Amino acid sequence: MDHPLIQHKISILRNETTGTNEFRKLVEEIARLEGYEALRDLPLEYEETKTPITTTLTPYIAGKKLCLVPILRAGLGMVEGLLSLCPTAKVGFIGMYRDEETKIPHEYYCKIPSPIEQRTIVCLDPMLATGGSACDAIEDIKKRGGKKIKFLCIIAAPEGLRKVTKEHPDVTFYVGHLDEKLNDNAYIVPGLGDAGDRIYGTK
Ligand code: URA
Repeated sequence: MDHPLIQHKISILRNETTGTNEFRKLVEEIARLEGYEALRDLPLEYEETKTPITTTLTPYIAGKKLCLVPILRAGLGMVEGLLSLCPTAKVGFIGMYRDEETKIPHEYYCKIPSPIEQRTIVCLDPMLATGGSACDAIEDIKKRGGKKIKFLCIIAAPEGLRKVTKEHPDVTFYVGHLDEKLNDNAYIVPGLGDAGDRIYGTK
């Protein structure tokens, strides 16, 4: 996404001297800006509204059909940004950890609102690195009946983005910035380090 506000905020995120408090706020702000764009196609329905002047047909978001699904832990940092736009959205969770030896993601938790078929699902993870956890999360959501899936990340690696778009061509991906590559530890280069650690101040 080439919006200058998103690019500026990502640059501050990358800076290793940016502290936890500022990092967390920026992740939330970027998620809000990406969410604004990603939700552009939400369906509207028209209802009569009485203004102080007259009565007129006006558009409202149709139904309450949104579900946010952060991938734990770093995806949690994006939830409030989206909820500030759509406070009535339901929120599911997918917990993944990555085996540090094999770099393979493992799911340890999944709780998604049911029924999910009718909802637009917005999956959240700031870093799309190998694409392994994104693919697993999307597969799990689909297994539970999810159909209309969007995926928001802040930084992606080309390898990961290639994998997810190949395996899930029906999912729309919103990427704040496409970086250069992955390193041998499957970290994104230049990246910003471990997003979860930087959001929560852990090491
Ligand atoms: N997850 C992160 O938090 N950072 C990376 O660079 C890759 C995966």
